Amino acid sequence: MDSFAFVIHPVDPKRDVARKYPLLAGVLPTGLIHFLSRFWPPVYISHITGARSEATGREIEGWLLACPFTARQALQLPTRAVYNKIVHAGRMAQRLGAQILGLGAFTSVVGDGGVTVSRRLDIPVTTGHSLTVAMAVEALREAACCRGVQMESAAVAVVGATGSIGRTCAELLAPLVSRLILIGRAGNGEAESRLAQVRAQAEAAGARWVHTSTQIGDVCEADLVMSTTSAARPIIHPQHLKRGAVVCDVALPPDVSPKVARERGDVLVVAGGVVDVPGDADFGFDFGLPPGKAYACMAETMVLALDGRFESYSLGKQVHVEKVREIAQLARKHGFRLSAVC
Ligand SMILES: NC(=O)c1ccc[n+]([C@@H]2O[C@H](COP(=O)([O-])OP(=O)(O)OC[C@H]3O[C@@H](n4cnc5c(N)ncnc54)[C@H](OP(=O)(O)O)[C@@H]3O)[C@@H](O)[C@H]2O)c1
Repeated sequence: MDSFAFVIHPVDPKRDVARKYPLLAGVLPTGLIHFLSRFWPPVYISHITGARSEATGREIEGWLLACPFTARQALQLPTRAVYNKIVHAGRMAQRLGAQILGLGAFTSVVGDGGVTVSRRLDIPVTTGHSLTVAMAVEALREAACCRGVQMESAAVAVVGATGSIGRTCAELLAPLVSRLILIGRAGNGEAESRLAQVRAQAEAAGARWVHTSTQIGDVCEADLVMSTTSAARPIIHPQHLKRGAVVCDVALPPDVSPKVARERGDVLVVAGGVVDVPGDADFGFDFGLPPGKAYACMAETMVLALDGRFESYSLGKQVHVEKVREIAQLARKHGFRLSAVC
């Protein structure tokens, strides 16, 4: 049977560590979990069974492995130390017999998006970003439709527009919407020039009106928001959002503060890129989604394994539109569907 492995890490330190080590999480304060995560070696989490292609009936198996650094630690540690731990997890995947390795959340954010890691492994590596972009755009469109917001007359903000996922989301959304607001990170000296590049890319893709900004407050102009930063903490708060706004939050950890759900009943926030896996997928571990569902980056690794495409499909920081379209088509063929957003 063909196989894959996927690397996860604690996104919400207390909650996620409790899923694997309930007693430990009960006694360790969050700050200590962040600190200890530096030293914890990669951990075998579970055996994944039951994912089956609707097109071919073929089944695959896989393994979840944890690379225990928190997002905050991943940003603070030397990049080389983060790579070493991911490679360690990758070698564990190779020993288990995995034919492809997927990188989850910050394991693909830090550094060069899997390029160095893949050079040090004997199996292909994918960040899953192509399917993540496809599913995020689909989720925003579905959520807009649920709320009766017309894409073609809407103002859409992409937060984290200079990032790997944000840039390509902006390019795909450009021809669909009335106004595009591209928001980069304040305090990054290169933000303006990088935003100018994304603006050019969006205009070439058919954007009618583009505004660039490094002020998160400018999100208040948007009817629809695609949020894709690696801030590792909430940066969108209740006061930032327009009345009736629809937000697709792709970031892990999320960009949208939990206060938005409590204080802004008029706003709809959907998680970007959650996918229903075909067959009777059993992940053998509660990583935070209901049974049978996966993050799109995880799903990309599974789609490639089901299709026998053992190649480093999404590698590096650039996400290509052609690959986004191709992987979305392959995902549909094998029976992966966007989970209901509302
Ligand atoms: N849902 C899923 O299936 C899935 C899959 C993969 C990844 N993800 C998540 O998607 C997010 C983006 O990943 P990526 O690979 O595109 O990351 P990336 O290439 O590092 O881009 C991140 C973007 O966020 C901006 N940013 C960073 N810190 C910020 C802050 N404090 N305030 C405002 N903006 C900030 C960056 O600005 P600069 O360019 O100035 O640094 C950049 O524009 C991550 O949270 C990741 O975990 C989700």
